[in-house]
Amino acid sequence: MVPQTWQNPAMTCDYALRLTSHAPEDTAAIAARLGAGLGAGDVVLLSGPVGAGKSLFARALIQARLAELGRYEDVPSPSFTLVQTYDLDRVEIWHADLYRLADPHDALELGLDQAFEDAICLVEWPERLGAFCPASGLHVTLEPAADEDTRSLRFSATDPRWGDVLRMLADAPTRPA
Ligand SMILES: Nc1ncnc2c1ncn2[C@@H]1O[C@H](COP(=O)(O)OP(=O)(O)OP(=O)(O)O)[C@@H](O)[C@H]1O
Ligand SMILES: [Mg+2]
Repeated sequence: MVPQTWQNPAMTCDYALRLTSHAPEDTAAIAARLGAGLGAGDVVLLSGPVGAGKSLFARALIQARLAELGRYEDVPSPSFTLVQTYDLDRVEIWHADLYRLADPHDALELGLDQAFEDAICLVEWPERLGAFCPASGLHVTLEPAADEDTRSLRFSATDPRWGDVLRMLADAPTRPA
């Protein structure tokens, strides 16, 4: 994984980072590292086309947090249930796949508005939330590249809360390409 850009123009509170993943294992390692820094109220918004790696990213992050507690569990896709939750010791993780969300208001029935306050939320297809998409979330956009196993991961946020998190990700050890 190779950090390509790092900007922190403090005047605008705009935070962005781009990493290149050369294999699923790279993406999983980035996700695990991000996950270690997340707490209640943190929302990660995972965008990108079908097959980009949103679920792989979410699954790796969840499994890393579970493994910290000595738990090795399946992390099923929420494609049909829309939401899967994981009870960690002090916080829940909510994994949502909103591809099938018919109306943004349905997110409220799922309890997502409360989860955005209380839980760690990983949201695939956040575009489906419309106006309910939390402004304080961290956007992660996965973009396929010409090489089948390469993905560009773009992180962006406006909430200053993410500044240190992105700096920590940018400082991650790299492996040879
Ligand atoms: N560098 C990479 N990072 C992530 N996934 C990769 C990478 N290279 C190849 N892949 C493969 O791409 C696929 C990503 O599938 P995944 O289900 O995570 O996509 P998705 O973005 O969640 O799609 P959907 O929109 O259908 O939910 C997996 O089969 C994974 O092994
Ligand atoms: Mg998915």
